[in-house]
Amino acid sequence: MHLTLRQLNIFQAVATHSSYTRAAEELHLTQPAVSMQIKQLEDNIGLPLFEQLGKTLFLTAAGEELIGYCERISQQLRDAEDAFENMKSLSSGKLSITVASTANYFAANLLAMFSQQHPDITIRLNVTNRENLLKDLKFNHCDLAIMGKPPAELDLVTTVFMENPLVVIAPINHPFCNASKIPLEAIAKEPMVVREQGSGTRFSIEKFFHNQGLSLNIAAEMTASEAIKQAVSAGLSLGIVSRHTIDLEIESNRLCILDVEHFPILRHWYLVHRKEKRLSPIAEAFQTFLLGNKHK
Ligand code: PGA
Repeated sequence: MHLTLRQLNIFQAVATHSSYTRAAEELHLTQPAVSMQIKQLEDNIGLPLFEQLGKTLFLTAAGEELIGYCERISQQLRDAEDAFENMKSLSSGKLSITVASTANYFAANLLAMFSQQHPDITIRLNVTNRENLLKDLKFNHCDLAIMGKPPAELDLVTTVFMENPLVVIAPINHPFCNASKIPLEAIAKEPMVVREQGSGTRFSIEKFFHNQGLSLNIAAEMTASEAIKQAVSAGLSLGIVSRHTIDLEIESNRLCILDVEHFPILRHWYLVHRKEKRLSPIAEAFQTFLLGNKHK
């Protein structure tokens, strides 16, 4: 069976007016064009849709059945139209965003502010490390991503929007807390807790020490900055994390940032999407919101 929306539209008009002539007038078609479309529709279905009794045109049982379907299809099309209008006016829609776990310390706040401006949108936030974030971009699982320096291999549109300094942290009673200009060699010798392989933070720490001709004394690796902070404040070792992750601990005097030569390692946060990605209105609005906000 091959029905077109056009045929259903014509059928609905004939049924509403009980007349081929009036349907033709309404649709700006000729009466024979309307009759031909109805004939094709009947041939397609294999049943008559109208019957002419005296001067009156009635729907057959098949016609009654089809009019019910037409009404439901029209309703669905109106619903689709409303949904698209809502998406255009940003009063609904889905924003799918993947952020590097370190970025979640500020991304969650930004998303909260954004959703206050657009209370009916749905946000899907995936918080993961750099390696998995790159998979999300590759397999088109997100509209936008927030990450450290993007790789050149993927075809990405990238905009830098904020600094991301990496700092060395220590428990507050550590002897290094009062020292200044601590040499890198001394830091490299100390046991250190760092993020897991696959994390962007880990990658840049290793690259930084390697470029200085040093390697780290890794005591433990952990998949979350939260765990690193707790391990460091409990006295396990020193740690290296993004400055963005330790606001609360610095305020409450649970950790100190060490004054180390060549530190902080200065990285940046980027807002990223695939070049061919057709951003939804809500994703574009978030992009404007994020890049329009001034960040330290
Ligand atoms: P991550 O993120 O260390 O949490 O993976 C930072 C980055 O993308 O560089």
